[in-house]
Amino acid sequence: MASGKRTCTSLYTIKTQFFSVILIKDLTFQDDEGHFIFETLEEQVDLLNMTVNSALCQQFAPSSSYQQCFVKAILKKCEENNFEICDELYESYTMLIGKSNEVSEVCYKTYFISPDECITLQESTQMISHGTTGLCTWQAAKYLTEWAIENKQILKDKHVLELGSGLGLTGLVISKFCCPATYTFTDGHENVLRTLRKNVTLNTVQESYSENDDCCNIQKQRCDKTENDDNSYFVCSDTDGSRQDITRIKHLDWEAFTEQEVKDLRSDVILASDVVYDDRLLEPLVKVLSSLLSSSSVAYVSSTIRNDTTFSKFLDVLDTKSICWQEVKNVPTPVFYYNKDVAIKLLKLSSQ
Ligand SMILES: C[S@@+](CC[C@H](N)C(=O)[O-])C[C@H]1O[C@@H](n2cnc3c(N)ncnc32)[C@H](O)[C@@H]1O
Repeated sequence: MASGKRTCTSLYTIKTQFFSVILIKDLTFQDDEGHFIFETLEEQVDLLNMTVNSALCQQFAPSSSYQQCFVKAILKKCEENNFEICDELYESYTMLIGKSNEVSEVCYKTYFISPDECITLQESTQMISHGTTGLCTWQAAKYLTEWAIENKQILKDKHVLELGSGLGLTGLVISKFCCPATYTFTDGHENVLRTLRKNVTLNTVQESYSENDDCCNIQKQRCDKTENDDNSYFVCSDTDGSRQDITRIKHLDWEAFTEQEVKDLRSDVILASDVVYDDRLLEPLVKVLSSLLSSSSVAYVSSTIRNDTTFSKFLDVLDTKSICWQEVKNVPTPVFYYNKDVAIKLLKLSSQ
C-alpha cells in the first residue's frame, strides 16, 4: 500500500475512534504494518487537524478530559519512540490542561457510518446518571445498528417501533439508511426522552457543513417539528420533497402502560437493545412485547450477555407468554468500535 493511502486510512480510523470516544487504551495508533501514524511532524499536525483541532470537535466536542487523555497518549507514544514532537501537540495539551476544571456531565459522541455519513449524539459522560442507564449508547445498540445496516430490506417501508431507545443511535441510522415508512422511538425515562429529542433534532434539522480535510459533509433534512410534553412528532422530508419519513418520540413505560397506548403503537417491526439487564423488568418488558406482537409483526432484541441467569430468565418469560424466539446468528460487518469479547445475542421474536 502506498504510504499516503496508508496514512489516510489510519487517520480516518483514529478520527472515528476519537469521535466515538473509545477507551484510550483501545485506540489504534499503528497502521497494519506496525508504523505509528504520527511519526513525522506533518503527520502529527494532520492528526490534530482531524481530531481536537477540527471544526467537528469545535462544534460537537468529546469531553475535555477525554481530549486531554487522547493528546497525552500521543505525546507519551512520541516520547517513548523518540519521535520529534511538533509545537502544536504541546500547545493542544496545554490548552486542554487549562480546561481541566471544566467538568461537564454531558459531551458529544459522533458515530461514523462511512467517511461522509455520521450521527452525532449528546451523551452523558457517566454510564449511569440521573438514575438511568439510558443516557449513553450501549454496545448492544451498536450491534443492532450494524445488523440493521446489513438488513435494510427487513426495515424498508415498514412501520418500526423501538423500545427503551436510549439516545437514538439505532433509530437515527435506520431512518437515514434503511427507509422505514415510520420510526417510533420510545423510552420510559423523562431525562432520556429529553436528550433523545435533542439528538433527533440535531440529526434531522436542516443544516449542512463541510470540513475539507475531515471529509465530513452532512446533508441534513428539512424537518417540521411539533412537540408537547411527553410526545414529539417530527415530519421530515428531503429538501427536494422526494421522500418523507415520519419520526415519532413517545413516552412508553413498560411498567405502566395501557392496552390502548400499546394498540396505537402497533408496528411491523419492533426493535430493542440492551433492555435485558434487570430481573425485575423482564416480566413488564415481555408483557409489552406480547401486546405489541401480532401475527404480522416481528421483534428483534439485541442483548449483551452480562449475566447468563438473567438472560435465561428472559427466555423463560418469553416461553410463558408464548412468544417464539430464535437466535440470529449471522454476525454483521463491524461499523462501530466496541468490546467484541463480550457476547451479544440478537433474538428474533414472533407470536405463536
Ligand atoms: C441499558 S439502556 C439501553 C439504551 C439503548 N437501547 C442502548 O442500547 O444504548 C436501557 C434503556 O431502557 C429504558 N428503560 C428502563 N426501564 C424502562 C421501563 N420500565 N420502561 C421503558 N423504558 C425503560 C431506559 O430508560 C434506557 O433507555
